[in-house]
Amino acid sequence: MNVDDVLSAAKAAVHGAGDEASLEQVRVRYLGRKGEVTALLKGLSKLTPEERPQAGAAINAAKSRLTALIAERKDQIAAEQLATALAEEAVDVTLPGRRPGSGGLHPVSQTLARVEDIFTGAGYDVFAGLEVEDDYHNFEALNIPPYHPARSMHDTFYFDDGTLLRTHTSPAQVHVMERQPPPIRVICPGRVYRRESDLSHTPMFHQIEGLVIDRNISFAHLKGTVTEFTRQFFERDLELRFRPSYFPFTEPSAEVDVQCVHCMGRGCRVCSHTGWLEIMGCGLVHPNALQMSGIDPEAWSGFAFGMGGDRLTMLLHEVNDCRLFFENDLRFLEQFR
Ligand code: FA5
Ligand code: MG
Repeated sequence: MNVDDVLSAAKAAVHGAGDEASLEQVRVRYLGRKGEVTALLKGLSKLTPEERPQAGAAINAAKSRLTALIAERKDQIAAEQLATALAEEAVDVTLPGRRPGSGGLHPVSQTLARVEDIFTGAGYDVFAGLEVEDDYHNFEALNIPPYHPARSMHDTFYFDDGTLLRTHTSPAQVHVMERQPPPIRVICPGRVYRRESDLSHTPMFHQIEGLVIDRNISFAHLKGTVTEFTRQFFERDLELRFRPSYFPFTEPSAEVDVQCVHCMGRGCRVCSHTGWLEIMGCGLVHPNALQMSGIDPEAWSGFAFGMGGDRLTMLLHEVNDCRLFFENDLRFLEQFR
């Protein structure tokens, strides 16, 4: 083998080495102790003394050329590897970040806030009341003595100590009357509980109680208030009907129905084919109820109402099953954000 052949083969091998390990193999193959260039140097001894200096100089030149080439290629490989790594790990800082999803108020909470806004705007106070009540406030003070048949209208959850989960927000009225002399203008929103469950009834639901006590309050005040409230709440004109009804703590009493928003009154599954959905019970506060809470029925009169917060929400958003409000399916809830 002559020097030029070895050098050109070595150059090709250096170029072909793609990483540090194969480059090292090339170095060993040519410049190592048993390498091809080393073999050429060993071969010098077979030459004549005249030939030796020239051949020796050529081999040494080839050796240093090859050493330089390997060092160069080594730097190249390192630079290539760095470039690949940078390209692979590149971060596009202009991409938008991942934001945490923002929550929203539950549609029923939004309704309660909306109702509070409307009534506080008309000068009403807000009082929350208690969810765990005693028999006196939930029933007796509302003119529902122990033997009264109206008790069976409320499927009550009782605790062992005789307390109960309030079946309506009306006991909050009693607390207000006990605490505060008339005139009174208050609403009491909150959770109530009954042992019942179907399309339009859930075991926990929301009511908003309203109580107004002043001189010479009449049914006209009640009717005007309820009508104006529904107009503001629904922001459209839905048919309303006041249907004579009975509550022991009001006299006269009525239930208020709103035209069913699903069928616009034609009759459907949601309104049990009546065309109407009941949204509240109401009436003029019974003199017995005033008297029991220390208000003189000769001097004062008042009206009260208790409306269903979940029903109002169903109607407002045209939801056809109020149980959806309590299943916490985000696909449903996100529509109200
Ligand atoms: C009452 O609870 C009376 N306390 C209302 C009242 C207050 C009358 C003040 C007079 C004066 P009632 O049981 O009808 O009445 O319930 C009132 C409203 O709550 C209903 O019109 C309805 O909208 C809603 N409601 C009743 N039961 C359920 C239920 N299980 N699920 C969802 N909403 C209900
Ligand atoms: Mg009712």
